[in-house]
Amino acid sequence: MLKVENLKLGYDGVPVIFDVSLEVHEKEIVSIVGSNGAGKSTILRGLSGLLKPMAGTITYMGQKINQVPAHKLVEMGMAHVPEGRQLFGKLSVKENLMMGAYVLKDEVTKKDCLEQVFELFPRLKERENQAAETFSGGEQQMLAIARGMMSRPKLLMIDEMSLGLAPVLVDKVMDSLKVINSIGITVLLVEQKVQEALEYADRGYVLQNGRMVISGTNEELLASDIVKKAYLGM
Ligand SMILES: Nc1ncnc2c1ncn2[C@@H]1O[C@H](COP(=O)(O)OP(=O)(O)OP(=O)(O)O)[C@@H](O)[C@H]1O
Ligand SMILES: [Mg+2]
Repeated sequence: MLKVENLKLGYDGVPVIFDVSLEVHEKEIVSIVGSNGAGKSTILRGLSGLLKPMAGTITYMGQKINQVPAHKLVEMGMAHVPEGRQLFGKLSVKENLMMGAYVLKDEVTKKDCLEQVFELFPRLKERENQAAETFSGGEQQMLAIARGMMSRPKLLMIDEMSLGLAPVLVDKVMDSLKVINSIGITVLLVEQKVQEALEYADRGYVLQNGRMVISGTNEELLASDIVKKAYLGM
């Protein structure tokens, strides 16, 4: 579904991502894990068209997308849930969700999509008129993911889902990802919480200082010396 080859990304001509290659297959949950500043968010910005590659290729559903603008990529089925959620605090749950549906063409499709998202997240339906800013951290993260779902994505890319959440909430939000995945949506997850992300993913990539250092299935990575030493304190 997604193939990234020798990708180089940076800001103002200064590279921070070097020679990164990765693949995401249809219906997988794949995670990219790494510490603060490793370049995880930068990779997602590159994939979703917010940052143009300095070198390398990004292929999505068989099409090279290096120069495709972000809004077009949303239409093509890529959704990006950004770090820090970026909700509209004063707006209601429903209004925030509808913001995510701007690429859908007609009102009927939008309504269908809203119903489907409410089925996945009944908690949001119960509170559809509540202002987003009054939600707890975990609920806000659910809302951000649900908003990503409102563009009917094929590939949902989520940046730092666990940020600021208590462990029990991390599990809850991760569980909702499993549900999303079970209805056929491919998930690319970017996380600092290495153990949790790898446990929930099918496969993962470890990023250090802008370079991929190791990749494999979750079992392989959790058992690897690099991961154990650098992230699991073993
Ligand atoms: N807008 C920007 N302008 C210049 N440099 C940036 C910008 N955003 C990020 N960087 C730099 O790029 C590098 C990678 O940052 P990035 O935000 O991608 O890391 P990250 O892995 O997402 O970190 P975190 O876990 O803290 O979110 C860092 O050195 C950072 O300072
Ligand atoms: Mg980040």
